[in-house]
Amino acid sequence: MANKRKLRKKEHLKYSMLQERKSKRNTFKDVTILHNCLSEVTFDDIDISTNLLSIKLKSPIIINAITGGMKEGKIVNRELSKIAKKLGLAMAVGSQRIALDDSSAVSSFKIVREVNPDGIIFANLGADATVEEAIKAIEMIEANALQIHLNVPQEIMMKEGRRSFAGTLANISEIIDNINVPVIVKEVGFGIAKEEAFALVESGVKIIDVSGTGGTNFIAIEDMRDKPKTFNNLVNWGIPTPISLIESVNAVDNRADIISSGGLKNGLDAAKSLALGAKAAAFAGYFLSILFKEGPSSLEKHILQIEQDIMYVMAMAGANNLDELRKRPVIIQGKLYNWLKSRGIMI
Ligand SMILES: Cc1cc2nc3c(=O)[nH]c(=O)nc-3n(C[C@H](O)[C@H](O)[C@H](O)COP(=O)(O)O)c2cc1C
Repeated sequence: MANKRKLRKKEHLKYSMLQERKSKRNTFKDVTILHNCLSEVTFDDIDISTNLLSIKLKSPIIINAITGGMKEGKIVNRELSKIAKKLGLAMAVGSQRIALDDSSAVSSFKIVREVNPDGIIFANLGADATVEEAIKAIEMIEANALQIHLNVPQEIMMKEGRRSFAGTLANISEIIDNINVPVIVKEVGFGIAKEEAFALVESGVKIIDVSGTGGTNFIAIEDMRDKPKTFNNLVNWGIPTPISLIESVNAVDNRADIISSGGLKNGLDAAKSLALGAKAAAFAGYFLSILFKEGPSSLEKHILQIEQDIMYVMAMAGANNLDELRKRPVIIQGKLYNWLKSRGIMI
């Protein structure tokens, strides 16, 4: 069982690398932040700090949940946490389920806290976790928050995946009521609609990571793992990230902080996310692919460029800080516009 899980984790790393990361999947292309010809910012004073509830973040860029549990996962976690420490970024580990069942997997998660003793680190478990498991995962890495992931499409496409999801919302509430760090409820690449964002907030969730379509696609990954391929006709399932973001921001009406993730590839995608109301922008597949293909120092440069590009956009939009960027008008066109119209959402 534990060995099968380790193999699956390895396959997820491998197949996520084989996914197309082409611009045609960029769901942010229909979003434009309005230029401000009367910008009065002083570039060097631009402030990109943000917060998720009481957690203060120096940068809105988050390294999202990817891995852990096996040798390769430990190496990835070590390299990512070195970068998180150097650049002062929050970072999530991948699902710790494997380490709850197999103590030999614990060190691949603990490494993240060892490398970065004072950093902001998020634990990660599925929505079927018990309160005790949640507490163990948090203690394992002295986490500042717990990510609870929602991944029904992935589970049902996995031969070894879960088949029953009854009680998810009640279980999330139960965990929130019994742990002493904030909970971030996240998708894994299929998005969160306004109905579910509202239900989550009503159940006490105060941070939501929409993780929509446009990047890592676990139906496509499971299709690559499965032989012969069977899910090909379902690979376009899900909610594009900017739409999920707009739906969720509208639904929660300032009662929760929203994180944008799913297909983010550059500073412009992140800036558009922040202008649409996100408090932070999280990257998984894109960072992993740079780490694998170009190495850690290249990834570090890319992240600095992303932060720099967010500041360029803020300067051109006339925003001194992220609160001001959120107030700048954003234009929505094309498919995104039609989607929002059909859902009766005005921004
Ligand atoms: C190899 C890989 C493994 C992942 N494992 C997890 C996981 O264990 N828990 C989780 O919440 N999300 C996991 N994710 C999902 C990401 O955190 C993120 O929600 C999703 O990949 C969409 O973002 P992206 O398009 O930037 O990759 C994983 C992503 C990748 C690429």
